[in-house]
Amino acid sequence: MTNQANRETWGTRIGVILAVTGSAVGLGNFLRFPGQAAQYGGGAFLIPYLVAFLVIGLPLAWLEWGLGRYGGARGHNSAPGIFRVLTGSRYGSYLGMLGTVMPVMIYMYYVFVEAWCLAYAWDYLTGAFAQYGGDSAAITQHFLTSAGATGDGAVFSRGAGRMFVFLALCFGINFFLIYRGIHRGIEKFCNVALPLLFLCAVIILVRVLTLPANPLHPEQTVINGLGYMWNPVKEGTTLLATLSNAEVWLAATGQIFFSLSLGFGLILTYSSYLKPDDDVALSSLTSVAGNGFAEVVLGGMIAIPAAFVFLGPSVVQNPPGTFGMGFITLPNVFNQMPAGSFFGFLFFFLLFLAAVTSSLSMLQPAIALLEEGLGLTRKPSVALLGFITLTGCLFIVYFSKDFAALDTVDFWMANFFIFIFATAQTIVFGWVLGIDQGFAELQRGAEITLPACLKFVIKYISPTFLLVIFLIWCFQQLPGRLEAIFTLPEEGPPVVLMSIGLILLVLTFFAFVVSRANLAWDKEDAS
Ligand code: ALA
Repeated sequence: MTNQANRETWGTRIGVILAVTGSAVGLGNFLRFPGQAAQYGGGAFLIPYLVAFLVIGLPLAWLEWGLGRYGGARGHNSAPGIFRVLTGSRYGSYLGMLGTVMPVMIYMYYVFVEAWCLAYAWDYLTGAFAQYGGDSAAITQHFLTSAGATGDGAVFSRGAGRMFVFLALCFGINFFLIYRGIHRGIEKFCNVALPLLFLCAVIILVRVLTLPANPLHPEQTVINGLGYMWNPVKEGTTLLATLSNAEVWLAATGQIFFSLSLGFGLILTYSSYLKPDDDVALSSLTSVAGNGFAEVVLGGMIAIPAAFVFLGPSVVQNPPGTFGMGFITLPNVFNQMPAGSFFGFLFFFLLFLAAVTSSLSMLQPAIALLEEGLGLTRKPSVALLGFITLTGCLFIVYFSKDFAALDTVDFWMANFFIFIFATAQTIVFGWVLGIDQGFAELQRGAEITLPACLKFVIKYISPTFLLVIFLIWCFQQLPGRLEAIFTLPEEGPPVVLMSIGLILLVLTFFAFVVSRANLAWDKEDAS
């Protein structure tokens, strides 16, 4: 248990709100959301998205803030520690371990994508992108080479190796800020980065909304692009057909989780640094609203309308995946836009800032556990986590062919474990802590009155919705993914199997840390 007198806390209320909003606002808002919305029916996608927001997003954000502050008041900042006090059992701490392992594993690939954003911002700033003009084959090749998608070890080869400089910079920035701590590192950085990234996004949005129609295709206007993005009914399909597709509901729920950083253990740890009577009700609502604005208004109105004007509906209709849209489609757009180098730089710089404020939040849960579990001070815990994440990241960077390692880790963490941990948190709040005590916890220090129906939603509706979505998801996706693990490739190493090995290794290490932590907590409980 952390010494209460020496506990780190946030400096200001706005600081914690910006840090949590920074954790939420990330690549998910500016790349993943527009891609998902375009792929799953535009405006029709917003219906399951809003339902998932109301039934899962908002309640879960409130309860994560509440559970984190509850654990922090009892001296715990790590998810295992918080789960141990909540469940009153050592077994609970092993469930809580997911809230440490998930962010660490996600960080291993997220920081690689962060490095792409920094590299692209640099390439736009130095004019390297301008040379491609509208040559989309060259732009595609630039991405495939930078990210190493052409073959395993491609990023390590001479010539492509410059990505290591950007990766090293990203690692350096993240670990420097984490080393400086909650208030002096994370909070101070987010206080500057968040307003700056919103400013960059607004400038780009104004540019996109004032684009003239494409002179070669006069029907490709911003208004038609917005219509494409937001009309609930598309040609050749009906609203009912879109809504009766379970995949759309899965995608919308997954987007809510990923975008709001819910079910990862991030908010749990951040809010554990609140003071016991700090408000959680309004702060949580504010950060959720900030994320929603960044996602639906900024993210949703930049990428698709711009791509529509320059590249047309056929490209928008079939976005080439999250990465393809960000790193291939949009550079094509910027290269055709007047002052495109400037706007390209601004866009990738904003993505980079958004990614750093998110990746920082993925490191703090493990730092909290290493400090609590192994009794380490800040320096060795940062060094140890640096070693673990660097090793895992280099594995993912090396096995970059078709992003096989990245995709495997992403799938199991950001789809599978996220559901399990989110469901566990909901059940612990509603049934183990008890909904009345949980609700009273949220009301303590609250600056708004929470609706009483929240009790019913958290106790019954959220877990039911999560379980139903999870079962459908398991039915649709799990068999294929399990088969992929044990299907050995005809040539090359079994990357999927090796990636599962990496996940198991990290799980084992953190299980060891949790077991050590439990010994210390047992002693404290006995004394
Ligand atoms: N919430 C973070 C994002 O959207 C992880 O990228």
